Amino acid sequence: MPLVCLTDFQAHAREHLSKSTWDFIEGGADDCCTRDENTAAFKKIRLRPRYLKDVSKVDMRTTIQGAEISAPICIAPTAFHRLTWPDGEMSTARGVSCPHLEAPLPRPFSTYASCSLEDIVAAAPGGLRWFQLYVHPNRQINKQLIQKVESLGFKALVITVDVPKIGNRRHDITNQVNLMQNLWLKDLGSPETGNSMPYFQMSPIDPSICWEDLSWFQSMTRLPIILKGILTKEDAELAVKHNVHGIIVSNHGGRQLDEVPASIDALTEVVATVKGKVEVYLDGGIRTGNDVVKALALGSKCVFVGRPILWGLACKGEHGVTEVLDILKNEFHTSMTLTGNINASPFQLSRLIGKKGRK
Ligand SMILES: Cc1cc2nc3c(=O)[nH]c(=O)nc-3n(C[C@H](O)[C@H](O)[C@H](O)COP(=O)(O)O)c2cc1C
Repeated sequence: MPLVCLTDFQAHAREHLSKSTWDFIEGGADDCCTRDENTAAFKKIRLRPRYLKDVSKVDMRTTIQGAEISAPICIAPTAFHRLTWPDGEMSTARGVSCPHLEAPLPRPFSTYASCSLEDIVAAAPGGLRWFQLYVHPNRQINKQLIQKVESLGFKALVITVDVPKIGNRRHDITNQVNLMQNLWLKDLGSPETGNSMPYFQMSPIDPSICWEDLSWFQSMTRLPIILKGILTKEDAELAVKHNVHGIIVSNHGGRQLDEVPASIDALTEVVATVKGKVEVYLDGGIRTGNDVVKALALGSKCVFVGRPILWGLACKGEHGVTEVLDILKNEFHTSMTLTGNINASPFQLSRLIGKKGRK
């Protein structure tokens, strides 16, 4: 049976993966309230289409951090792609770079990638790569990683701020023994030895990192710094004050603190606070083209997609990644056309959107 939407890929991926891997990908923290709310919140928003506009030419292109991309759909950084497909992040990179997708879609690779950054770059040399950093307590390791990604041509540094400690993921606690045995974090060697470390000795993430520390990273790199995991106007204000270049409104797919708002519900407060001073993006719960339209209408410059990429990878490797992105792009095109919007940038749907049940 053909896989025609992202949830088809989800169902199919489940059949391909071990229980522990499936749990690792799908799992949220604690009662998974926020994970579920991320998708449910989109469904509470209703679109108000406008007709008799010329929609014969729809332009999905936009820019992020000054680079043109073919659609406002990017992939979120996720760890350990080798759990889902033997070539891991190398296949993901090839899938995202498929010429069929027409122009590069940015792809932040995780500090916890299961392939080395050199291998990822070699697998798909072109395109727009970002690096997602989990701040390591050893400053030298952070420095080493940043220098490496710069020399490999990565274009932005995404610092994830919502993981001072790994969230309470119950399934992972139960399954941990079986899950990560063969995974090595090749980019996280100690600077002294150059050794890479296995997941089960996985380096801690620095819980002491503060706003004041951002200047150290800014002195270290000329790459734009984007903070991932902002959910409140207070932190959005601080992000602007500390001269970051972008914010990803995200609750880590509901995997960190449970019972925080759905990303789409937190977006409005962040967008209203930054007033266009920095670009704002969103991840969490994007499953359809309509979801992309809603996120853009509420002020996100583009969206990032997490689990669906892993579903595509699990089903068909790099071809699955391309198919997932292709489906989402096609759905987004349809959603734009049917709502009467011909430009993804600037997107101007905000006054046409309403919460279900109220004006
Ligand atoms: C299996 C998995 C691994 C993840 N690993 C990382 C990671 O290494 N770094 C990070 O910043 N976020 C990570 N995330 C969070 C994603 O970047 C993103 O915030 C989230 O998946 C978006 O929600 P979605 O899955 O509903 O699209 C991970 C998410 C999943 C599902």
